[in-house]
Order: sequence, then C-alpha cells, then structure tokens
Amino acid sequence: MLEQIKKIEEQIEKATAQTKEELEDFRIGVVGRKGIIADLFSQMKTVAPEERKTFGQTVNALKNAAQDKFQELQDALESLQATDINHQDLTLPNIPNEMGSVHPITKVREEISRIFERIGFNISEGPEIEDDWHNFSALNFPPNHPAREMQDTFFIEKDPDIALRTHTSSVQVRIMENAKPPFRTLSPGRVYRNETISARAHCIFHQIEGLYVDKNVSFKDLKDTLYYFAKEFFGPNSKIRLRPSYFPFTEPSAELDVSCSVCGGKGCNICKYSGWVEIGGCGMVDPNVLKASGIDPEEYTGFAFGMGIERMTMLKYKINDLRLFTENDLRFLRQFEGL
Ligand code: DAH
Repeated sequence: MLEQIKKIEEQIEKATAQTKEELEDFRIGVVGRKGIIADLFSQMKTVAPEERKTFGQTVNALKNAAQDKFQELQDALESLQATDINHQDLTLPNIPNEMGSVHPITKVREEISRIFERIGFNISEGPEIEDDWHNFSALNFPPNHPAREMQDTFFIEKDPDIALRTHTSSVQVRIMENAKPPFRTLSPGRVYRNETISARAHCIFHQIEGLYVDKNVSFKDLKDTLYYFAKEFFGPNSKIRLRPSYFPFTEPSAELDVSCSVCGGKGCNICKYSGWVEIGGCGMVDPNVLKASGIDPEEYTGFAFGMGIERMTMLKYKINDLRLFTENDLRFLRQFEGL
C-alpha cells in the first residue's frame, strides 16, 4: 500500500498543465471528490488498525502536496496566458496610465525662464554645495559682516568652509570667472538656509538669479527688464516698485515689489492691504564684485536680481503655506495637473 502511495506521490510531483483542460484533468483525477486522494482515504477501513495512524498521516501529507501542486500549476498557467499574445483580447481598451504632473515650482521656474529667454537671457546653473568664496567672499561679504548672519546655512566642512549655498547669487561669480562679458544669464536653483520651517519660511527653497554684464548697462535697463518680466508673468496691468535697500554685492541696491496680482493693488490680506508684494532684490553689480571675478569695472557695468520662486508661485496660484511644496501631498499636487 505504501508503495502505491509513493508512486502516486511521484506522479503528482511530475504533473504538468499546459492548458486549462490539462489543469482540469489534474483537478478531477487527483484532488477532486472522486480523485486518487479521495480513493486512498476510502481505503482507510481496509488498513489494519495498528497501521491506520501512519496511513492516515501519509495520505494527509499527500493531499496537502497535491493541493499545493494544483495551486502551482494554476498560477503558472495564468501567468503564461497573461504574457501569451494568443490569449489576450486585443480589442479591449487599454488599462489607463496614471499620469503624473509637473510640480508647480518646476512649472513656474520654466515659465520664468521662457520669459527671460525671449529677451536674450540664457539659462545657467551652479552647484548647491558651495565654498565660502562663491557664496560670500567674492560677493563682497566681508568675513564678519552681519549680512552673513542673515544667511545662516548648513556647513559641510569648516576651514575652508564648504556649505549649502544660501542664494543663487553664487552662480553670478561662477559665470563671471569663467566667461568674458557680455553675458545675460538666468540661474534658477535650490538654496538652503538654517530657518525654522513655517508657513512662510523653509530650510530649502528656490531662487532665480539674473545677471547682465556689458558695456553701458544702466539702472534703467534693470528697471525696464523687471517691468517687462512683471507684465509677462503677473499680467499686463502689473506695476513694479523699487525700494532702496542694501546687499553687499550691489550698489545701489533695491527691493523689488510688484503690484499685488490678487487684488490688483487695491489691498487684500495677501499684500497686507498695501497693494504691493516683495518678490526679490536687485541692483547694479558692485565694482568690487566685478573685480573679484576678473572683470574691469571701468570697462563693464552690470545689473543683477534674485527672486524667490516659491513666493511667485504662491502669489500666482494663491497658495498660503510654503510647506505644501515639499510635503508631496497628492491632493495638493493634483490641482496643478492641467497646467
Ligand atoms: N541673493 C539675495 C538673497 O538671497 C537676493 C538678491 C538681491 C540677488 C540683490 C541679487 C541682487 O542678484 O542683485 O537675499
């Protein structure tokens, strides 16, 4: 009897099923109600009482093995059919792909880049891990100047200092060191500051830097350029306002405000009822900065500006919390699918 079981076990092990019919034959012949296993169980009464226990255990193990084998054959057949073109209904509609969407920051960065490209700016980039020279010293930040304090960041190495760049102005230096004027370039990218994360501040954000150096570049060129940009980006009725300010690398320096695109300048809670919102800083490149990068300030002048991409995105799409940009919540991101 045990020999018979052994044979059946070997048969089961070797069984294959290339088609549904073969699988069904296996089911009926082996694991079904009238199959070999059921037949063995029915022979239990003919077994001597002292051998029944062993017999029962052996047949039970065989039953489990047969059921596993059936499952295995069924899975194999299904996966074979899924990849076999003869078993696919090609007339069925395709399973739709879930489309992703462009992040609003990327979308706005691209939009700003296209606006400046139309007036002859090219796009340039620099490293996010910067040395002290490109992030501070070459931009006329003296070693102990308080302006450094306002841009505290994350240091990777000390002496010489290597840090995550605090602004895209570092790319200005890299451009000026490596090329001869004239240049008109726009440098978008990620920047870092040691800030507590809140609705209005983050340790990671994005800026877009503009630099134009040539003979006879004037403050009027800066103003015209920014006015053109504001109208293209925020709409034809936009106005700009330059407020005197201080940056170590520009002289004179100004803060750049645009008329509030939410209320059209009448006053609302976005612009704190002033009608204006600040979007960046700008100025004429300080002669010291030109010199530090090997450009003769007697021959060339230039303007520069830096704007926050998050700030502009928030204004354009009326977003009130900076953290939404980095939380990757699909309920937020999906709202930009159509852009
Ligand atoms: N780098 C400055 C900041 O992050 C912004 C800035 C101001 C950039 C004036 C400029 C500029 O190019 O001319 O706060």
